[in-house]
Order: sequence, then C-alpha cells, then structure tokens
Amino acid sequence: MTILDGKKLSDKIRENVKKEVIELQKNGTTPGLAVVLVGNDPASAAYVNMKSKACKEAGIYSIAHEMPDTISQENILEIIKMMNQNQNIDGILVQLPLPKHIDTTAILEAIDPNKDVDGFHPYNVGRVVAGLDGFIPATPYGVMELLKEYEIDPKGKNVCVVGASNIVGKPMATLLLNANATVDICHIYTKDLKAHTLNADIICVGVGVVNLIKEDMVKDGAIIIDIGINRLESGKLVGDVDFEKVASKCSYITPVPGGVGPMTIAMLLENTIKSAKNRKQKA
Ligand code: GUN
Repeated sequence: MTILDGKKLSDKIRENVKKEVIELQKNGTTPGLAVVLVGNDPASAAYVNMKSKACKEAGIYSIAHEMPDTISQENILEIIKMMNQNQNIDGILVQLPLPKHIDTTAILEAIDPNKDVDGFHPYNVGRVVAGLDGFIPATPYGVMELLKEYEIDPKGKNVCVVGASNIVGKPMATLLLNANATVDICHIYTKDLKAHTLNADIICVGVGVVNLIKEDMVKDGAIIIDIGINRLESGKLVGDVDFEKVASKCSYITPVPGGVGPMTIAMLLENTIKSAKNRKQKA
C-alpha cells in the first residue's frame, strides 16, 4: 500500500508558484486574490485563514473581506463588483456555504468568470464539462494532480464518486469522465452504496461522514481518495474512510490530514497564477 502524499506534492507546487510569482513580478505584475467570508462559521474562517496565509507565503497579494452574517445580498454584490473592477485582483473567491438569506447562485454568477479561481461560475462549470479550458475547482483539480503524480491513469477504470455536491462530487466526476474513466456518482439517495464501491478501481469520497467507507466495501487493490474532513470530539481530524482497516486492503490511499486538503490550497494558488497570466496576456 502506498500513501498518496498530498502534503509533499502541494509543497512542490507551492514552491513552483513562488517562482512563477517572481517571474510575473519581473514583468510588473503581482498576482492578487480577494477572499470573501460571510458570517462566523469557524471551519470557513479557518479555511479562509489558510488560503490568505498560503497567498502571503507564495508572494500573492491578498485581500480578505470579512462580513457579518447580517450583511445584505446587495452589499456582497457591491463588493464583488468592486473586486471585478479592481485591476490588482486576479482571483475572487467567496467562501461557501453562505448564510441562508443569501442567494448563492446570484453571488457566484456576479463574479467575473475570468477571475473565478474557484471555478464555480456556470460559465467555467460549462467549459469544464465540455472539456474546454476553464478554471477547475481546486479540490477535484488537486485530486487529479495527485493521481498524475503517482502515475495513476483513470482511463478505462471504474471509478465511484461518493458525494454529488457542486464543489466536489460533480466536478470530480466530470474530470474523471474527461480522463476517460467509467464513473458512478453515488449520493444520499443511492440504494446500495456498497454495490457501487465494490465495483470500483478508484473510490473518491467527500461527504463528511466518519467511517462511511469500510473495509468490506472496498475491493482488494483499490485506490482510495478521501476528500472528507471531519473533526472528532477529541479534536482529531479524520476523513470519510475507516483508514486503518481500508489501508491494509488497498493499493493507494490518501491520508487525512495530509492528502487532498493541502492540494486544494495549492491548486487555488495555481488558478490565481493562471488568471494573472491570462489577464496580463489580454491587457
Ligand atoms: N467551501 C468548501 N470548499 C470550498 C472551496 O473549495 N471554495 C469555496 N469558496 N468554498 C468552499
């Protein structure tokens, strides 16, 4: 069994991003990312913090707009409009989920698709589905890079994606399909999850349920990608896979922490650099 080391690969990518920032700066451009955080969900605040810190470390300029959850939709839209027009900003990221009184679709659609480094605007969603160049959501993008690093080609493989969110499951399934895998997408209404996972050469799971994927649901030699992040009462971070037991059966597995999580941050930086380069080319 081999551990898919996301920490190691993300460090490598972040070192490379640093070099790219230096190159861009030589040409008079400092890439910039605006992060919008609404409300005081501790997990969201922690993610935004990590993203801002990663930008700083890479030499990317970043602004965090932190707003109370009482803010109106109009106020958020105004900030996005400002960021769309700000020439120092190449990427705009609105941390999800948003409070219930906010129309998430309207917010995501207000972001300039050319600055949509999260890849959540329907324009980029559509381009990625069509197999065209566009911003790829950071988490599934990170998974694909991790597979590539370990020379795992999804082509012709049976893949089971567990979870069908717009942020993870759907784009994950899309990228794997684009890579010529045969993809099952399972979700809360799936009748017999085990029947799907047992058929899979690769399982990608990200739903936030501790120990959802157990030993008897995995075939020998399968590749396990755990995108879940759950904090136990003890404070320990775990994924959605019963790691110890499943690890002994599979060929490759991502740990939590240190697997997909660090890759998400690295790919966000990568998308920000991509945006800065695109925008410079168009200027
Ligand atoms: N919430 C959970 N994951 C993400 C992510 O990748 N981007 C944003 N903006 N919000 C999230």
